[in-house]
Amino acid sequence: MFRRKKNKKRAREEEEEDDAVFADLLTVDEMSKSTLKRVSVISTGFGPASPTSGGSQEKADLANIRRNSLRRISTSLGVQAYKPSLTSLQARPTSTSSSAGKPAAIKIRDLVLLDEISQEEVMEVLKDRYMEDAIYTYIGSVVISVNPYKQLRIYDSATINKYRGAKVFDMSLPPHLFAVSDSAYSDMCFRIRSQVVVISGESGAGKTEASKQIMQYIAAVSGGGKEGDAIKTKLLKTNPVLEAFGNAKTIRNDNSSRFGKFMNINFDYHGHPVGGTITTYLLEKARVTRQAEGERNFHIFYQLCASGQLKQFGISEDPKRYAYLNQGHAEQVKGINNKAEWTEVMNCLTFLGFGKEHVSEIVKVLGGVLLLGQLETDTMKGSFDLKSAAKLLSMSSEALLAAITNNTIVAQGQMVTSPLDQEQSSYARHTLAKALYERLFRWLAEKMNENIQTDLDDTLCIGVLDIYGFEIFNENSFEQFCINYCNEKLQQLFIDVTLKTEQAEYEAEGIDWVSIPYFDNKAICDLIDKRPNGVLAMLDEECLRPGDRSDQIFLLKLDDTFHKNDFYSSRMASGQKSIADDSFVITHYAGEVEYKIHGFLDKNVDTLFRDLGRGMFESGSELLRELFPEGDVSTWVTAMRRPKTAGAAFKSSMASMISLLTDMNPSYVRCIKPNDQKRPGQFDELAVKHQICYLGLVENVRVRRAGFCFRMEMKAFFMRFRVISSDTYPNWTGSLKDGIKKLASKCMDVSQLAFGKTKVFIKDPKAVFTVESARDEKIVVVATQIQRFWRRCHVRRVIGPYWQALYTTFGDVANDPSFGRHAKWPVDVPKKIQNTDRLLKRVHLSWWARRKVLSLSKEGQRQMRLLILANRCMSNEFSKPNSASSVTATSTNSHDGAGIVAAAAASTVGLRKAFNFNRQFNSIYAKDRPAASERAQRAVEKCHDSQVKFVAPMAKLNRKGKLDERNLVLSERHMLRVDSSFKANGKRSVPLLSIRDVTISPHSDSVVVMHSKEAGEDTVGRLEYDGDNLVPEFVARLQEAYMKQTGGKPLPVIISQDPAIDYNNSGKAGQAKALTFIPGQVDAVDGKPSSTCILTSNSVTYMLTAK
Ligand SMILES: Nc1ncnc2c1ncn2[C@@H]1O[C@H](COP(=O)(O)OP(=O)(O)O)[C@@H](O)[C@H]1O
Ligand SMILES: [Mg+2]
Repeated sequence: MFRRKKNKKRAREEEEEDDAVFADLLTVDEMSKSTLKRVSVISTGFGPASPTSGGSQEKADLANIRRNSLRRISTSLGVQAYKPSLTSLQARPTSTSSSAGKPAAIKIRDLVLLDEISQEEVMEVLKDRYMEDAIYTYIGSVVISVNPYKQLRIYDSATINKYRGAKVFDMSLPPHLFAVSDSAYSDMCFRIRSQVVVISGESGAGKTEASKQIMQYIAAVSGGGKEGDAIKTKLLKTNPVLEAFGNAKTIRNDNSSRFGKFMNINFDYHGHPVGGTITTYLLEKARVTRQAEGERNFHIFYQLCASGQLKQFGISEDPKRYAYLNQGHAEQVKGINNKAEWTEVMNCLTFLGFGKEHVSEIVKVLGGVLLLGQLETDTMKGSFDLKSAAKLLSMSSEALLAAITNNTIVAQGQMVTSPLDQEQSSYARHTLAKALYERLFRWLAEKMNENIQTDLDDTLCIGVLDIYGFEIFNENSFEQFCINYCNEKLQQLFIDVTLKTEQAEYEAEGIDWVSIPYFDNKAICDLIDKRPNGVLAMLDEECLRPGDRSDQIFLLKLDDTFHKNDFYSSRMASGQKSIADDSFVITHYAGEVEYKIHGFLDKNVDTLFRDLGRGMFESGSELLRELFPEGDVSTWVTAMRRPKTAGAAFKSSMASMISLLTDMNPSYVRCIKPNDQKRPGQFDELAVKHQICYLGLVENVRVRRAGFCFRMEMKAFFMRFRVISSDTYPNWTGSLKDGIKKLASKCMDVSQLAFGKTKVFIKDPKAVFTVESARDEKIVVVATQIQRFWRRCHVRRVIGPYWQALYTTFGDVANDPSFGRHAKWPVDVPKKIQNTDRLLKRVHLSWWARRKVLSLSKEGQRQMRLLILANRCMSNEFSKPNSASSVTATSTNSHDGAGIVAAAAASTVGLRKAFNFNRQFNSIYAKDRPAASERAQRAVEKCHDSQVKFVAPMAKLNRKGKLDERNLVLSERHMLRVDSSFKANGKRSVPLLSIRDVTISPHSDSVVVMHSKEAGEDTVGRLEYDGDNLVPEFVARLQEAYMKQTGGKPLPVIISQDPAIDYNNSGKAGQAKALTFIPGQVDAVDGKPSSTCILTSNSVTYMLTAK
């Protein structure tokens, strides 16, 4: 047993911190323990190994269930509660009992982790958790919920976000309804299967609240944009309407659902809501006319009284004045604001598409029902109430009176009408009130369904089943019989899924297993619904047989048939004096219930006197006509079919409900009611133990603990998860079993697996999670691979021909002496790859250039380098001045600003396309090259410079506009303008760094202008030798030398049509002259247009013709 800490507040605080760690440790630890135990169960063949939780305890528990069932339990308020003769329950140790070193019970989030499994332990854990407001506890994936009877702040959006998409029953999050909701929603999305959450528990245990919270959660986490939101809002708005019309205060629950509800939300395959359906089951209509002490009629009547609507009809608004509302003496309920609720219901109705005319019809029917309760037969003729009732039901007083005081019989094609006596008439009136209300309720549900249903055929869904809980009142009738039968069926389904099928499956699959005994309620279901000898079948038979019929005769027949049945007893059948002589007792799974036989036959036949139907059908109200189609007299004589009895209808609705549930993947919420007083913080141990017992929780824990939380067909499992391992995906040739082991070994402990004949089982939910996560991770990779493959195919199809052409043409260019210089690039380039095509071209060209350069000699490479530099200079690449002190409009040197601006602007002329590359750059141009080279070298050395780079004759324009024959010498750091004998004085040597820019024309002339940084020092000349234009070579060599000196910073090379020159070494600095290149002549050297250079100075024009 777990030690319970005294200081629970502290324990709670600590729990927050170490819950996750602890739970993890505990799971591993407990799991291994439970595995050991399972082994021992298997080997001994008789229950878990522990003596207290072993076979004997198990037997004792079962005996308790039986004994329990045989005891009368009256859970009515104020009446003695569960009879405490359940010896094992009394023997329970006190809650202070503890064993040192064990964690507090509150930490047991999953009852599977219990050390010893017994009712006692389960109850202790639930109690401890409840006292700490931890109202939810798991048994595997089943959620146990204990009604807190107080608002807990665990349903807000922050909490929703925590559970959204969390791992399946995440250990770090406290157990919650949201976890089961999230798991259902994700399972629906990922496994593509519909889900149902079945909520069970006795009346007042918290089923309806749970169903609302689950819906709220699913609405919050499922997307769907505006449309999805609209659907969700509609679905949520149906709730207040259904509760107002279908819930009432009972002694068990102030808001007890008096109908069963299955709410189904349809989702598309993206998990977005697209619609919904509400199915309602058997409304407890008897409540309309009769309520027990402390109970109320349906909420809507009290809301109507508070709404102010009744004023318009001049009838009372005081519920105390209405016979249908005042019997229970509980018109006002604490915490219920009738008026506010009416407003909410009306808002919801409007939202759900009910028009004003609908609302007014509804109000009238409700008012009409209330007034029917006021009509005392002897005084009603001409009474105000009769008139008002008739008005509300849109008929004359006479017609209403006739309807409730006559009965027409159709016999052998003849209609015979006879008056009803007072008692019969009163009965007819109540029947009409009940029928009106029940049909109105069904109509409302249908109308709401029309508004929320989807047209889509193929949808997934999540259903939430909130059915009336098992209930025992002081006086139980046909309604309780149906309600309890419904709970019996649900319990059977639960047993079927969690206990029977599960165990049967282990056995069928050949998994080592020792059956865990449990109480199967099938015999009770059979007692009620078996044909021909079940209570319902016999009831039908009794109702339909000719001759005198009475409830008492029916009871005698039941006694006769079932006197040996363990689950049936009565005063006559079993001689139990405690049972009234007009009652029989059924020992339900949840306890014995005594049913008063009175009314069984009538309620089962459930037919209206014909005149009632006729009255309604013939009223002026559209709605009433719709609600009572059988009132159409023209159909009476021919209508042969007897309507289904209420019992048979309920039985078949239960059967279809169960079959619907069987088709969906179920999750369970088992609600427990901690006390009958609806009081927070009060935990009635006996009552809870009783529920633990009949809900079969202990057996549930045992099966769960010994069993496996997951199973799947081996093939399906393998196919789903084989992507996890590269050994199994994409190809696997071994056996399925080996394949599964192989892939599982990648992400989990293989000992968690068990193999049956056809299925694989996994024990620990965490292992299921890891294998799913591993798959999720791998799916992304595999999806990318598939995408890549597909893209490759696509690309091949689209660019295949292009690629082929490229390959054919260029595949072998490396072996071509010209490296494919003349190969033709493909022309049909698909649009999608035009960029790629451009890139490929560049790649090819740079490859080609590289191969070309590498194939040259050293000198060849040098020449090539110079050629490229020349090309760059001629291509305007260095046209931009690259420093502020260079050629800019803001230049600070003494140059004429306007001229510089003009030069800069002119530089945009751009490319000098025409120049002759097809020759060697020889560097020394003279008749006697060695001599010229030597002389030049000497001249250079005089300027303290070293190597000569270039020598060529230059026709230099002098200040008079004449051409002087000079030699131009370029060394590493200087440019020398020397005479023919290579003599140079200091002035004629120009340091390269003093040159501001070189300017040339865009044409093919041989004129070059070198602007100096110093005023009046610009040089203009023509560079030609033996018919060769030397300008490109000179500019390239000058640039090379310049860049070497500046460490890479280039000399601006400007290509301009009309550069300004400061050509005045007479000392008049700043006198700019304009030089204009006039294209026109065809150059003799390369056949491109040449130009004439015109120099204007003081209105004198000088001309430098290219040749
Ligand atoms: N989770 C909860 N938090 C707070 N109060 C609750 C909760 N569940 C139930 N209750 C209280 O118990 C009452 C009965 O719950 P309800 O869901 O109507 O029971 P059931 O549908 O099982 O008969 C509610 O009206 C509410 O006051
Ligand atoms: Mg309810």
